[in-house]
Amino acid sequence: MDDRRLKGYLSSLYPNLTADLAAVEKKALEDHVPIIRGDTQQYLRTLLALRRPARILEVGAAVGFSASFMAIYNPVSCAITTIENYRPRIPVARENFHRMGLGEQITLLEGDAQELLPTLEGSYDLIFMDAAKGQYIHYWPQLIRLSSPGSVIVTDNVLQDGDIIESHFAVTRRNRTIHKRMREYLWELTHDERFVTDILNVGDGLSVSVRVKQ
Ligand SMILES: C[S@@+](CC[C@H](N)C(=O)[O-])C[C@H]1O[C@@H](n2cnc3c(N)ncnc32)[C@H](O)[C@@H]1O
Repeated sequence: MDDRRLKGYLSSLYPNLTADLAAVEKKALEDHVPIIRGDTQQYLRTLLALRRPARILEVGAAVGFSASFMAIYNPVSCAITTIENYRPRIPVARENFHRMGLGEQITLLEGDAQELLPTLEGSYDLIFMDAAKGQYIHYWPQLIRLSSPGSVIVTDNVLQDGDIIESHFAVTRRNRTIHKRMREYLWELTHDERFVTDILNVGDGLSVSVRVKQ
């Protein structure tokens, strides 16, 4: 089956974004800011409906598209904390939150996730990982600390445009470290008895880990 035609057909079925979100998406794409793709959006929307998270943590805000998306499509009111370290994107994200009336609901933490994650407290119902792929393995102990039974950890870009199935030597030298670390991360997710994990060919690859044990 032609994957692109299939995805095109399926995306034609999904509901349109709100006008505000569509405008943020359009501007982000024009400015080459990487944001979640259409099929990832729909999957997240389904997950929000299923899990109804009251506390959400996102790593990688960019210009605030996915954080706003989660605030708008979560059927219950929620508090979202999102982290971004690339300075030029921070005021854009803040402005987007403000324009959509989400400034109170979304807390944007400025800085490196590696330093900020250990400062967070409590458990999050949904954690959305969408930052530097090579760093996820280093965040794993914090993700365990910040989750509890019932928490869902979603990680984007785990299939690396198909590179993940290639051997270490078939991957360009530049991408080898990321390839190795992503494989380690996927191994941890799928072998930790506290979690049940599925890895989906959605967007650039999405892992969904549900915590089932303390
Ligand atoms: C793919 S974009 C996020 C897109 C966003 N989640 C969306 O879909 O609207 C990844 C973002 O993570 C940020 N990032 C990468 N490494 C980071 C780190 N160590 N700490 C905080 N942010 C980081 C990048 O600057 C970038 O803006």
